[in-house]
Amino acid sequence: MTELAAVSFVDPDLDALAAETAKIAVLVPEEGTLNPGARRLNRLTKGAVARAVESAAFEKLKSGESLSLGYPAGMASDEVILVKLARNAKPLEARKAGAGLGKTLGKEGLLIWAAGLGQVAELAFGAALRAYRFDARKSKSEDALGPITVCATKRDEAEAAFADRRAVAEGVFFTRDLVNEPANVLTTTEFADRLTAMADLGLEVSVLEEADMEKLGMGALLGVGQGSESPSKIVVMKWMGGGDGAPFALVGKGVVFDTGGISIKPSAGMEDMTMDMGGAGVVAGVMRTLALRKAKANVVGLVGLVENMPDGKAQRPGDVVTSMKGDTIEVINTDAEGRLVLADVMWYAQEEFKPCAMIDLATLTGAIIIGLGHENAGVFSNSDDLSGAFLKAATAEGEGAWRMPMGPAYDKLIKSRVADIKNVGGRAAGSITAAQFLGRFVKDETPWCHLDIAGTASVSSATDYAPAGATGWGVRALDRLIRDGYEG
Ligand code: BES
Ligand code: MN
Ligand code: ZN
Repeated sequence: MTELAAVSFVDPDLDALAAETAKIAVLVPEEGTLNPGARRLNRLTKGAVARAVESAAFEKLKSGESLSLGYPAGMASDEVILVKLARNAKPLEARKAGAGLGKTLGKEGLLIWAAGLGQVAELAFGAALRAYRFDARKSKSEDALGPITVCATKRDEAEAAFADRRAVAEGVFFTRDLVNEPANVLTTTEFADRLTAMADLGLEVSVLEEADMEKLGMGALLGVGQGSESPSKIVVMKWMGGGDGAPFALVGKGVVFDTGGISIKPSAGMEDMTMDMGGAGVVAGVMRTLALRKAKANVVGLVGLVENMPDGKAQRPGDVVTSMKGDTIEVINTDAEGRLVLADVMWYAQEEFKPCAMIDLATLTGAIIIGLGHENAGVFSNSDDLSGAFLKAATAEGEGAWRMPMGPAYDKLIKSRVADIKNVGGRAAGSITAAQFLGRFVKDETPWCHLDIAGTASVSSATDYAPAGATGWGVRALDRLIRDGYEG
């Protein structure tokens, strides 16, 4: 697994700056007043810091952006970075500034002079999140990233505040690694093994094999995987840290590769479908975070792991399958497979755990990318309370999420002539009809949210907190939702 950069907090030491070999970042407020660290750097560089701070270039910077001085005379460090940031910066502002620094982390490491800043842990969190590089599949790995050392006025307080953030960052990295892995490495079996290994962290992990699923009548999920050499699996991860209340359920779509099946996708861009297990990846990352920070909450995470392949044994358009719930489904398009997988996993989650609420995550539809792009995930829900709480958590964490409508009128679009429902509803409102389909497998008493993360799970250019590729979108928001609403 990709390791987090080593993050530590130290007491500010002015006399150590001259000989420091790491890159040095120092915070400078909007008005340009130099703190003691910046003053010392200014003296060492014979006034270069003050000149830079007084420059038009510095004035143009937005909060969190920076200006860098290369190979400064009088210092051992190769780079001094001046970050524009107020001492009383808001949490997300400090986090974003940290991310800007994390992006520049190299093998020599980074020393951040953050004495006087309130939100030091957030700054460090941002830096750690952005200092991610997926090189597990490169034959020669680059030099390891150096440590991030943060000079903080109240170092113990900062260290304590960062402990939980570190658990979140580790969950995010776990998700990103899973999503970035190619499908020949991350088969259903390998995926299940990596989740089973999380038992070491205190999670209770169990696996349903195809024979178990057949007994349970999961014809919808099994139909999707029947064309693949890799066995379909459901992995259940339980974290019961919160007494005897009903657990919160997280359900993830884990299609390790989506060719479309017999309704095969065009070849251009098909390689992106290695990320079609993104929902399952987020569920796994959240469970890892909850275990690492020993959350006082009961949460079960379930992922449906399948591979959608065309084959002599693959399911055909026109097939009718019977779900665990008992509803029959006409498979019009074998490429609308995610909803078939989720139908059975969500029903099983409710039958088995009677959850107090349920959120599913899935890279479900291309249509959500048309609607919302890569900035926001689509939020579909039968509960204003649950979706409201989720949107609030996502906003607080800076993860884009936007509520989409649902309603009975859309159900007409998935009526089938031969079965109870069909798995596609045509081009109109493609993301909504997918959500309506899922809604058929949600019990009236279960508050539920569906998150369509097809646009946010993996992106082709870097975001504030991640390089191009897997983002880990959702781990932070879901961890906060649990922390704020379901933790005793
Ligand atoms: N995995 C795809 C959706 C997807 C598309 C995810 C692009 C990430 C990026 C899903 O299984 C799918 O193929 N959906 C179809 C549904 C259609 C056949 C109704 C789609 O969106 O085209
Ligand atoms: Mn598909
Ligand atoms: Zn898919």
